[in-house]
Amino acid sequence: MIIPRLDRIAYGGDYNPEQWPPEVWPQDVRLMRAAGVNLVTVGVFSWAELEPRPDEYEFGWLDEVLELLHGNGIAVDLATPTAAPPAWLAHRHPGSRLVDRDGRVLGFGARQGFCPSSPDYRARAAAIAERLATRYAGHPGLVLWHVHNEYGGANPACYCPVSAAAFRVWLDRRYGDLAELNAAWGTTFWGQRYSDWAEIEPPRRTPTAGNPAQQLDFLRFSADEHLTNFRAERDILRRYSPGVPVTTNLMIPACKTMDYWRWAGEVDVVSNDHYLRAESADNHIELAMAADLTRGVAGQSPWLLMEHSTSAVNWQPRNIAKRAGELRRNSLTHLARGADGLLFFQWRAARFGQEKFHSAMLPHGGTDTGIWREVTALGSALGALAQVRGTPVAADVSMVWDWESWWAVELDWRPSVDLDYLERVTACYAWLWRAHLTVDFTPPGGDLSGYPLVIVPSLYLLHADAAANLADYVRGGGTLVVSYFSGIVDANDAVHPGGHPGPLRELLGLVVEEFRPLRAGETVRLDGGTTGDVWTELVRPRGATPVLRYLDGPAAGEPAVTRHPFGAGVAWYVSTRLRGEDLDAVLRPACGDAAIAPRDDLPAGLEVVRRGPFLFAINHTDQDAKLPAAGTELLTGGHCAGLLRVPAGEVRVIRTE
Ligand code: GAL
Repeated sequence: MIIPRLDRIAYGGDYNPEQWPPEVWPQDVRLMRAAGVNLVTVGVFSWAELEPRPDEYEFGWLDEVLELLHGNGIAVDLATPTAAPPAWLAHRHPGSRLVDRDGRVLGFGARQGFCPSSPDYRARAAAIAERLATRYAGHPGLVLWHVHNEYGGANPACYCPVSAAAFRVWLDRRYGDLAELNAAWGTTFWGQRYSDWAEIEPPRRTPTAGNPAQQLDFLRFSADEHLTNFRAERDILRRYSPGVPVTTNLMIPACKTMDYWRWAGEVDVVSNDHYLRAESADNHIELAMAADLTRGVAGQSPWLLMEHSTSAVNWQPRNIAKRAGELRRNSLTHLARGADGLLFFQWRAARFGQEKFHSAMLPHGGTDTGIWREVTALGSALGALAQVRGTPVAADVSMVWDWESWWAVELDWRPSVDLDYLERVTACYAWLWRAHLTVDFTPPGGDLSGYPLVIVPSLYLLHADAAANLADYVRGGGTLVVSYFSGIVDANDAVHPGGHPGPLRELLGLVVEEFRPLRAGETVRLDGGTTGDVWTELVRPRGATPVLRYLDGPAAGEPAVTRHPFGAGVAWYVSTRLRGEDLDAVLRPACGDAAIAPRDDLPAGLEVVRRGPFLFAINHTDQDAKLPAAGTELLTGGHCAGLLRVPAGEVRVIRTE
């Protein structure tokens, strides 16, 4: 169980009592109980309240809050407040402030305004974490430690002199000597050769495109600095309370700059924050993808939804309120896809500050509101779903995902500005979602052996050993689909030798002779009525069979999609961007090769996920839907004898027989 001391599906949210007078606290706790809340995150941004002046601590209020919560059976996820250093830190240690790429020192008044490499910040963060650990490690209400908040969310990288020096140390550790670094960064290009470590800078704003290998290493370095900070706090907490798991809330997939594959083994519990992209009509599909990817980071084990919203957020251009039932569908989708707890930002809507227009479990309007009714209904639904906790999600296919490749493919001066990693992954994922297939996400070097079908959307940066992993998978009988602009460069953004796509040529049975990107808005026709856009390539088969050809465009007459039997399996290649139903032309026959049947029998817009013996059916449409299922219906208490009816906008969960 992800939180051993909590014997239920976690339910609750961020609780910021310091923003309210103490008279409000008993009411909070009473209402939490009414809503079925059993876990709250406390203290996330409380550093200035806990240590108003250096080394002067005020823990009385937090003692009181924890007693009140514990006394009412509400467990505590206690945060270290290090994402919001106090004003005195910035004032006394100006070198701890964040400096942006243009060299501007950023001001105080928000959060995460610190340099991740600052020794002053680090020392002070360790000190407050240790204070909290010594004071609360033995508190009976404490079930989880929450380190920091969304590492790198607002300060992914700092370009100050301290960071520059730390970057040099990091590079020295990576390369050992300058000759290695010069080779890795390709510094013979544009005369960038370094002859002294002191000459190396972070990739500050340059007059024209900056060195891509330098930028990649700086991204790696910056992410490592945050991870180092996490480890330091985690180790302090573990020392004082060995039995209490430690987490930090990730932002999957919203945060591009942290390579979360590297965080996976560092946290005791993978927890994630997810917010709907209001402008997207299919945001429930993106939500499902975020949940599946989070489960991937958790090694396909249960995880915790640390934050989502009951309704609108406040930081998008137009903050769209959730419609009736949407909160429940969103939450139970996370549960279906492996979450063992559902928490919100935040418990009570704030009256002041930057986030006062953000929704909460308890809205400004109080308890006579639709949101409150949905929140309490969800709390009791989770009681009925308690047995789901801890069970594994059953996936049909895997997709390969990689943060480093995402970084690399979107650096400057790629062959087209329309190359968009997240778009490609989301498009393939959405096709699978519509085919009612459940997806696991795997890192490029991860174990693929259990999956009949693996999809690799535009994996531009590919290590030779990861390419060998893909080849082994196909050789062993797997079906692989690779999309364009994959396997192009190595870890230093240097083109793999011998022609594109470097280490995938043999597996795919082809060579890409030339990239032929399209103009903005241009489309190309393929055989069979399929349309591509953004990108085409001149593909030369070397064993692969053309399945579809370009009928027009810059690669007219040449193969667009190929299939290559390799070992006991099959490798497909797609050299243009196919969207929506156009992906049918590849993914349907690939499913055929993998002996997977898209569930065309299920109604469109009905999301069906199997978790252990449980079947979740989430109806995103305004029509009632039906699907074959038999078993006990957990939310209504009924029994389903063979055909399950899921009313419009509703969720049903069956314990199957
Ligand atoms: C999260 C953050 C919370 C709150 C929330 C608003 O990214 O962790 O503290 O700001 O966004 O949506």
